Amino acid sequence: MEDYLSGNLYYNTAVYYDYDNREIIKDDLNFYVEYANKTEGAILELASGTGRVSLYIAEKTGRMLECIELSEYMLEKFRSKLKNFPKNIQNNIHIRNGDMSNFMLDRKYEYIIIPWRALQWLPIREQTIECLNCVYNHLSDNGIFVFDIFKPRVYDANWLGKEDVSYSIIDENKRIIRSTINHYADTEKKYIQYKNKIRILENNVETVKEDMLTIKYYDYNDIVNILKILILKLLNNLDITIKEIWMMVMK
Ligand SMILES: C[S@@+](CC[C@H](N)C(=O)[O-])C[C@H]1O[C@@H](n2cnc3c(N)ncnc32)[C@H](O)[C@@H]1O
Repeated sequence: MEDYLSGNLYYNTAVYYDYDNREIIKDDLNFYVEYANKTEGAILELASGTGRVSLYIAEKTGRMLECIELSEYMLEKFRSKLKNFPKNIQNNIHIRNGDMSNFMLDRKYEYIIIPWRALQWLPIREQTIECLNCVYNHLSDNGIFVFDIFKPRVYDANWLGKEDVSYSIIDENKRIIRSTINHYADTEKKYIQYKNKIRILENNVETVKEDMLTIKYYDYNDIVNILKILILKLLNNLDITIKEIWMMVMK
């Protein structure tokens, strides 16, 4: 896998991230608030991007949020949006530049979230496991961890090269069109690459900004197997041996 990091951190396209006005980008917000309300205390969001979810949860719950995000380009947007929020929200949101697969904070959280498929922005399986280990180390005993992933498609010759327009909107005197162009699929290592393409049309001049996204995908069994590693770790902490689990399953 060639160097994917700057693409996955939206080096060229972070400033356009919040133009996405599709319903699907708003659908998850109340879901994440609903689960926040089942917990107490500060909330940890990993790969928080421009603060799409954190800012909404902070407004709805008045809770403190710790946000970890590796992309300085996304964080620049997040910080400038935060400046326009009331002081209490500004004080409640703590932003850190960090890697979701390698971080250590000095406290635990009842609620940890990774919204909008961001776990898949770690394209290598070992990184996912490291990230889940970090989640494990920071989750309170009765805590809730919520993340979402997309259902994989068939990545065949029909998929390759296909371009889909996600939105086309007008902002003052500019038209902004976002599309994805499928570039490559590795069905053994289970990752796909697609271009995040932004066309900006202004005064009959077109400018194009692109990032290559390299995204892990999971079949149902893959994600279950990865989560089992966490569950086994939890059970190990309870001093239950693999043999005892086996006996329980066989009962
Ligand atoms: C699809 S965006 C989701 C952003 C945000 N969670 C949301 O719901 O809008 C994926 C995010 O993951 C971030 N990211 C990629 N690799 C990361 C890593 N290793 N650690 C932390 N953030 C990362 C990207 O910069 C980007 O902001």
